[in-house]
Amino acid sequence: MDSFELNKMAGAFLGVVFVVMSISIVSDAIFDSPVPEKAGYAIEVEGGDTHGGGAEAKADTGPEPIAPLLASADVDAGRKVFKKCAACHTGDEGGANKVGPNLWNIVNRPVASGDGFNYSSSLSEFSSGNSVVWDYAHLNGFLLKPKAYVKGTSMGFAGLKKVEDRANIVAYLRTFASTPAALPAAEAAPAADDASAGEATDGHAEKPAASQD
Ligand code: HEC
Repeated sequence: MDSFELNKMAGAFLGVVFVVMSISIVSDAIFDSPVPEKAGYAIEVEGGDTHGGGAEAKADTGPEPIAPLLASADVDAGRKVFKKCAACHTGDEGGANKVGPNLWNIVNRPVASGDGFNYSSSLSEFSSGNSVVWDYAHLNGFLLKPKAYVKGTSMGFAGLKKVEDRANIVAYLRTFASTPAALPAAEAAPAADDASAGEATDGHAEKPAASQD
């Protein structure tokens, strides 16, 4: 191999480097891809009316609480939302179990305690021997995303993303009783940007209700 040939090869190599670099510079200029400030994907949350801090707060503090909305919730709107549930649930006293259990007296009823219904082992475990009741906080969390709240539940329902829908349906579920359960105390109004707000309002969830009966 003589030096002329070596020169040709070096030249060819440099030429390739030059072309590759030019392409990368030009494509950088064309396909401007700014580096995001935070790593990861931006996930759009459905129900855009809760933007403005709400979505961020949700990630850290669990479901947006329905407690502050319940007093003014719309029972008729809840009745309409219940159409999504009615394929699987009845709500009247002594009503039949369908795919899901009858929901008479569901507010503050011990979890997985409906008569004659064959609950999943996940929901039965969640009930800790019927010591956990369906208070407003648990209903809120479960109805937001059943499968995330009780992993392995057999309730095949995606959930109600809008906090208004959940407040309205729970206000309607509350009417499935001869004496509707008391509304939650409104003391703890949610401060969307306060990291502890979710806990403050949803907090009393795990208290056993044994003393009630
Ligand atoms: C596709 C059928 C289906 C739909 C739709 C459905 N559910 Fe359910 N639901 C079930 C089943 C099945 C269970 C029992 C879950 C288990 O055992 O894990 C259940 C359980 C429940 C429980 C717990 C009952 C208990 O006794 O512990 C509540 C509360 C509930 N559903 C409310 C609702 C509401 C409110 C809706 C509508 C927004 C709804 N469900 C929609 C099937 C359904």
